[in-house]
Amino acid sequence: MTKPVHVLNGPNLNLLGTREVDIYGSETLAGIEQRCRDAAERLGISILFAQTNGEGELVSLIQRAGREASGVVLNAAAYTHTSLALHDALKMLSVPLVEIHLSNVYKREPIRHKSFVSPLATGVICGFGPLGYELALQAIAPLVAPRAP
Ligand code: DQA
Repeated sequence: MTKPVHVLNGPNLNLLGTREVDIYGSETLAGIEQRCRDAAERLGISILFAQTNGEGELVSLIQRAGREASGVVLNAAAYTHTSLALHDALKMLSVPLVEIHLSNVYKREPIRHKSFVSPLATGVICGFGPLGYELALQAIAPLVAPRAP
């Protein structure tokens, strides 16, 4: 049995649905989790879905993914742009990593153009809203599939 893909979410994403709806849309994080579960089933992979507001907790989740995941889909939210600790934790990952953002961060304030995640990511998806999570799982699925015997 292949290990699950860990779908990890950073600070304030628990408020999706009511937070800056003009930027992030009205879908809740629970809705996004359901989308991911449906996509995973279609793709024949399993997922673990988690969110935390804490930088240290996100680092711990990444360390855990290093031991227990076949791949990581990460929306690190604001820590994307600020966290060297996150960058260092991701350096230790040896599984595929897809960075994702709901909004197109490159169309927004310059501070959001810097990512501590991108240099370590297999690929980046941003600007497609919740659909981006499905696209990320579609992209990572062939990379984590078990080899044919
Ligand atoms: C975000 C973009 C980040 O700049 C921001 O801090 C977030 C959400 C996104 O999904 O568009 O919290 O990662």
